[in-house]
Amino acid sequence: MIAQDTIVLSNQPAAPGYFRMGLTCVTGFDTAKPGQFIMVRTGTDGTPLLRRPFSLLGLIREADRVTGIEILYRVVGKGTERLSRCRDGDRLSLIGPLGNAFIVPEDCRQLVLVAGGIGVPPIRFLAQSMLEREGDLHRCVVFVGGRTKDDLVCLTEFDLPGFLLDVSTDDGSQGNQGMVTRSLEKALDAGPVDLVCACGPPGMLKAVSAIARERGIACQVSIEAMMACGMGACLGCAVKVRDDSQHYRHVCVDGPVFDAHRLAW
Ligand code: FES
Repeated sequence: MIAQDTIVLSNQPAAPGYFRMGLTCVTGFDTAKPGQFIMVRTGTDGTPLLRRPFSLLGLIREADRVTGIEILYRVVGKGTERLSRCRDGDRLSLIGPLGNAFIVPEDCRQLVLVAGGIGVPPIRFLAQSMLEREGDLHRCVVFVGGRTKDDLVCLTEFDLPGFLLDVSTDDGSQGNQGMVTRSLEKALDAGPVDLVCACGPPGMLKAVSAIARERGIACQVSIEAMMACGMGACLGCAVKVRDDSQHYRHVCVDGPVFDAHRLAW
């Protein structure tokens, strides 16, 4: 995997504290999958040394051609603050697409997606990719949650044909009041579900995994980790798994998507 230069196509606020950035498509991205991520050097001057990981929000298409990629990020520190100041036409160095992807089996008929806070990007990408799928997906329910309505990003993009959207906020400022997992439990008890795919804060993912496990439902989660290299070299992103001799996996090369029931929560 080599570093490539990409050009900023757009960089706009998506919600308070959140930005959505479009980048030109570079080699290897036209087949990028939901769950994969990029490592970006956040300065336009070749600094800092370490790149930051960002999950792909989706692909930009013109006619049948992939012309760009999108990421969504929250401004939480120096790197993302620097990124938020980028202008159209700026040049950034990136590596990717990296990592694995969500896998929805062909025989999956009832799919549930769960996105919490900044966990939206891979879930939005996955929802969009389900539209292109030729298999017979009967039902797809998307649960999106945040602390307040300000944490609900890209909500309208889940308004897709054949999808049901269920929104929760901790403070009740939009949608159901309470944690997204409460709505998820009700839905899983109401009817058969083949697969749950989720991305969000660790506490939410742990709860989603437990809820699915109690009901014998397959569950894939995309997890976040501190990443310095993104390519398996620094060993800084280890995560514990429960069922094989090699007790640790690396989020950057073995993930970021894992079978939730194999992780040692
Ligand atoms: Fe370096 Fe995963 S980020 S090994």
